[in-house]
Amino acid sequence: MANAAYKAAKGLCRDFGEVEQLQVSRKGPADFVSSADHKAEDTLVEELRRSRPKFGFLLEEGGIVDGEDSSNRWIIDPLDGTTNFLHGIPHFAISIGLERDGRMYAGVIYDPLRDELFWAETGIGAFVNSMRLRVSARRKMSDAVIATGMPFKGRASHPEYPAMLDRVSAETSGVRRFGSAALDLAYVAAGRYDGFWEFALSPWDIAAGLVILREAGAIVSEVNGGDRMMTSGDIMATNGLLHEDLRGLLAKAADNSG
Ligand code: IPD
Ligand code: CA
Ligand code: CA
Repeated sequence: MANAAYKAAKGLCRDFGEVEQLQVSRKGPADFVSSADHKAEDTLVEELRRSRPKFGFLLEEGGIVDGEDSSNRWIIDPLDGTTNFLHGIPHFAISIGLERDGRMYAGVIYDPLRDELFWAETGIGAFVNSMRLRVSARRKMSDAVIATGMPFKGRASHPEYPAMLDRVSAETSGVRRFGSAALDLAYVAAGRYDGFWEFALSPWDIAAGLVILREAGAIVSEVNGGDRMMTSGDIMATNGLLHEDLRGLLAKAADNSG
């Protein structure tokens, strides 16, 4: 998985260099970026297929590809943080999850610009490169930095979101919106953020992150406390110590905004 990510990242980094030139061109970089995205996905599929020919795929760009082995499939976002990439903002990642018998088994999230490979395998632990990952130990919301993904054009609207943002901003050390859900999850696992929430994500945004979080000691649920994150796309992840506090704040804000 790591080798596939490293190989696809080479192309992405080359293309990211080009994007800056394209910002000022009349056509803009949009078409170029969507081709960078597809090329990265093709490289990932080729590499993973070479090492595990029978596994299936769930691809952001290519959809479902059935494999002979029905228990294993790769769930892939070749470029998470496309809007950042398109604008020349250096914060994006490749995300590869391995689902085994319907449960996330292993995950890799690679940030090529910082050369940080976040990875985990069930029962082995979570790591960034060769260093073990552990969630933060903060116990007080007032000390916490919480990341989020804000709704944007083309996304299902969440009328209660502004009230949630308001509430969490008022009760914590600060809220961050960096624009890559995969890296947001990796950063909770690494103890950089104390928590994260977002609505309407896709399975490829969170597949790898779920394993990395679990192995780093995080608690993950839907915002309403359920556990169907891969289907609903609604997710909150915390260091565990702050899970009920963050859930309470979000629930209270939702109640008051209705
Ligand atoms: C997006 C990023 C972003 C999140 C969006 C995702 P993409 O993925 O993860 O942070 O807010 O919901 O769709 O489109 O860049 O792969
Ligand atoms: Ca994504
Ligand atoms: Ca993407």
